[in-house]
Amino acid sequence: MTAEPASRPRATNPNATMMAARVHAFGGPEAIRYERMARPVPGPGEVLVRVAAAGFNPSDVGFRNGFMRDVVPVELPFTLGSEASGTVVELGDGASGFGVGDHVVGRVDEGGAAAEYLTAPAGGLVHAPAAIPLAHAAAIPVAGLTAWQGLFEHASLEPGTRILINGAGGGVGMFAVQLARHVGAHVIATAGPRSADRVRGYGAEQIIDYTRASPHEALDHPVDLVFNLVPTPAEATEALCRVVRPGGALVSITVPVKPPAATGVTGTHFVARNDPAQLAGLVALVDSGAMRVDITAARPLAELPAVHRDAEAGRASGKTILIP
Ligand SMILES: NC(=O)c1ccc[n+]([C@@H]2O[C@H](COP(=O)([O-])OP(=O)(O)OC[C@H]3O[C@@H](n4cnc5c(N)ncnc54)[C@H](OP(=O)(O)O)[C@@H]3O)[C@@H](O)[C@H]2O)c1
Repeated sequence: MTAEPASRPRATNPNATMMAARVHAFGGPEAIRYERMARPVPGPGEVLVRVAAAGFNPSDVGFRNGFMRDVVPVELPFTLGSEASGTVVELGDGASGFGVGDHVVGRVDEGGAAAEYLTAPAGGLVHAPAAIPLAHAAAIPVAGLTAWQGLFEHASLEPGTRILINGAGGGVGMFAVQLARHVGAHVIATAGPRSADRVRGYGAEQIIDYTRASPHEALDHPVDLVFNLVPTPAEATEALCRVVRPGGALVSITVPVKPPAATGVTGTHFVARNDPAQLAGLVALVDSGAMRVDITAARPLAELPAVHRDAEAGRASGKTILIP
């Protein structure tokens, strides 16, 4: 992870304003202020994007309450939002690859997506898919890149790999199940009753209802790979290691893993990063019809405090986008 502050000073336009969801002091959902501020100006190599939607991610809660600040230093006030889709409305000096009016999508690790306008390095963005509404594309970058890197960089998923995706009902799970099926893996997924049909629709061949049984109880023979998307307590993480065959792997995006030596299982934890080439690959899959992007809730950006409350209470399922 970067040691640079996530937020950076931005030049602003004294004659134009915008609405943005900002945090002036870390705290509960009430710390989020939906307020008017000066509109940013694109710097060299940057574009100004009129945001169609920002994607909500669980990490936004950590940026709001300050839990993320040891990992990613944040300067206050901080505009929330790590991914967005929208329309290019202005180019900074030397910005290339896009023209005014182009539809783009991208991951912005420095925040700023939860606003009417966003400046971002042009090189970090890609053209949005044409096959889905522009706002829906905001769901792709963080969850899609995390799924891609987990399956293809930190694991070597192949046709026939027997994979358990633990926590497939969320945003990362949506992409992980579809990517794994796309390469011909055999997918077993854990999902609750509210998500089971959706996850089956992504191609999962077996669903384990995690509210009734653990993978350890439900599986009759081991898997080659576990992709863990749930912040499991230590005991549950160890139990996941025990459903993997010796020589197999557990890849986690939540808790660190140290499989017991006797299991012969490799454990990996990683933090995903922006990768425009991989994001373009995800967009191509969406445009070809090989992957769908389900939006379970599209809510006004002004309701962001309520979105945070729902997420923290476990009331949200699937992917939420925020419309400024
Ligand atoms: N390391 C990284 O770079 C990285 C990147 C992205 C996300 N993450 C982390 O990864 C996790 C998942 O992210 P996300 O965006 O997919 O989250 P999300 O959209 O909020 O999904 C959460 C889902 O987890 C499911 N769930 C909760 N408890 C479960 C359990 N005991 N067993 C199985 N499923 C359970 C729920 O599914 P049901 O609807 O089926 O109940 C819920 O929909 C979060 O903790 C997030 O912070 C890490």
